[in-house]
Amino acid sequence: MSGGRVITLQIDGRDCGADENQTILEVAQENGIFIPTLCHLNGLHPVGGCRICMVEVEGAPRPLPACVTHPAEGMRVTTDTPELRRRRRLILELMLAEGNHVCAVCVVNGHCELQELALQLGVDHLEIPALYPRREVDASHPRFGLDRNRCVLCTRCVRVCGEIEGAHTWDVMGRGLKAAIISDLNQPWGEAESCTACGKCVQVCPTGALFEKGKATGEMVKRHLHLPLLTAMRKEEEER
Ligand code: SF4
Ligand code: SF4
Ligand code: FES
Repeated sequence: MSGGRVITLQIDGRDCGADENQTILEVAQENGIFIPTLCHLNGLHPVGGCRICMVEVEGAPRPLPACVTHPAEGMRVTTDTPELRRRRRLILELMLAEGNHVCAVCVVNGHCELQELALQLGVDHLEIPALYPRREVDASHPRFGLDRNRCVLCTRCVRVCGEIEGAHTWDVMGRGLKAAIISDLNQPWGEAESCTACGKCVQVCPTGALFEKGKATGEMVKRHLHLPLLTAMRKEEEER
């Protein structure tokens, strides 16, 4: 996003120029400063759902999600403190405990954003009890599958399907521990008439929850680097 007032702020003690319509995450990325993310994906509308990208802003009473917070003139942002790491680890542990994340038998083992995040944050075991839910697996689509046990409810699939493909197949039903990804009016995915079988949702899913059929453990590598390009092309078309 751009077109706003140019401002300056400090991130981790470094002076950064920014457009006031950008997010703190975008400014950090432009300046080579790493902030961990999960629900965010460049090219999709940010929703601030997972809170992994929390940063400290001087004067703010609590950490703020960098992917949906706009910078302000003179703002001082810190992206990495022991307290931020503690909070991020706790969020990640809760996600892992609520699902079934058995990497050794997952199609994206070795290529999984959740696994990568756990490595970055040093989460190698759970300090809270795992729930071991028995969630439904939807194998009704001829080309793809959905294993809800590995879903972290990041809503990337919902957004890519609505914002980029325009099919609006996915939605979230229910709340809390009962929340789940559903296709169309909670039909099996293979019967969802809105689905064009484009596969975009599968490629943006950060875990093995959405996968291509026929892939064995560790075989699936997700491809979504083209997304920002698709979004930019769509925006240009709309502005014409
Ligand atoms: S395959 Fe394409 S159209 Fe079907 S649900 Fe996924 S993103 Fe939507
Ligand atoms: S299926 Fe994948 S992309 Fe969709 S909400 Fe779950 S983890 Fe996110
Ligand atoms: S990446 Fe910012 S809230 Fe999820």
